[in-house]
Amino acid sequence: MTLSRPITQAASALRDRFREVRAASLALAAPLSAEDQCIQSMPDASPTKWHLAHTTWFFETVLLQPHAPGYRPFDTRFHYLFNSYYEALGPRHPRPQRGLLTRPSVDEVHAYRGHVDEAVLRLLDSDIGDQDWATIEPIVTLGLNHEQQHQELLLTDILHALSCNPLLPAYKPAAGPALRLAAVPPAMRWLPQPGGMVQVGHEGQGFAFDNETPRHQALLQPYAIADRLVNCGDYAQFIADGGYQRPELWLSDGWAAVQAQGWRHPAYWIEANDPRLGTQQQQGGWQVFGLHGVRPMEADAPVSQLSFYEAAAYAEWAGARLPTEFEWEAAFDAPGISQMAGHVWQWTRSSYDPYPGFRPMPGIAAEYNGKFMVGQLVLRGGSVATPAGHTRPSYRNFFPPAARWQFSGLRLAKDV
Ligand SMILES: [Fe+2]
Repeated sequence: MTLSRPITQAASALRDRFREVRAASLALAAPLSAEDQCIQSMPDASPTKWHLAHTTWFFETVLLQPHAPGYRPFDTRFHYLFNSYYEALGPRHPRPQRGLLTRPSVDEVHAYRGHVDEAVLRLLDSDIGDQDWATIEPIVTLGLNHEQQHQELLLTDILHALSCNPLLPAYKPAAGPALRLAAVPPAMRWLPQPGGMVQVGHEGQGFAFDNETPRHQALLQPYAIADRLVNCGDYAQFIADGGYQRPELWLSDGWAAVQAQGWRHPAYWIEANDPRLGTQQQQGGWQVFGLHGVRPMEADAPVSQLSFYEAAAYAEWAGARLPTEFEWEAAFDAPGISQMAGHVWQWTRSSYDPYPGFRPMPGIAAEYNGKFMVGQLVLRGGSVATPAGHTRPSYRNFFPPAARWQFSGLRLAKDV
């Protein structure tokens, strides 16, 4: 079979992108010890080593075994070990017990990655006809987007694990003092939006997950959206005003969570008198634990590690509400709007539901998104931990309302 020139070029570009994304995962794990990479701090969070292996398993299972002639699995037992939630692929190691996997070692996981990388690159370097390319290209692209999602989870999960350690170790020490933005937090401004019939969802060229499609119309009432995210200074006022002690601000389930979990501040905020802090840090006000360790709370930094319940209670306290996901999407390019991507994921008031006419991806990937469309809320925008270029205005992230270990914050909206 002869290769058409456009496919040769596209395959070469895809090989480069594959190498780049796979290397980025290893770079994220590089600051961590083998002990760090094995730990699972709660059932929702997975060990670093598991993320490195599971993303490899995805390429092996979805791409290589069905589509690479003569491919030999690295270790057939890994099929059970590193399947995450794919019922169609049979039983799997229980999610809450991923932290018990002292074997395979980090080195063995690296060897697994090398074995699969070589096979994927070989496949992309082989004679691929038009028809095979049409099958293989979308799977590789899905695998790379999947791996980027796990790169963010690798960071949020290890941050949770490190937050459980009284030494509060930094994932990566900051090279210097934290970057300061404006010295005084700028006042939030309301940006009026006309509403009306808007087009939402993904269309056109480029990758998108099935949950962003089909593009369709949504009817919005006139509304206003905040020009910036809610920042730590704003949120400290909510705390100081008794926000966590006032049931009238909270959804019923949210208030129950506050009571049951003893929430009094965002997940990684630390009170100045906390015994885990050194004497120097105990001098100041709020401290915040993050990827660079414990740092003084910065009033103008977006508030992060909030559950949906906390975001909704803050909005109630502020005399506002959360935007719906379509209000958010329609305002993405609004004049004067800032911080729409790359800071924190922004909780919306929208349930994670299928769009009208939604069809899951074909094959095994049908289980990727659709089966999670119940009991979760949509977040938009992307965070500091999201790989560059991974999100789009139509991108839908989703978590249950009590989840607070992600880089999740909020932007206000209101009716006009
Ligand atoms: Fe996954």
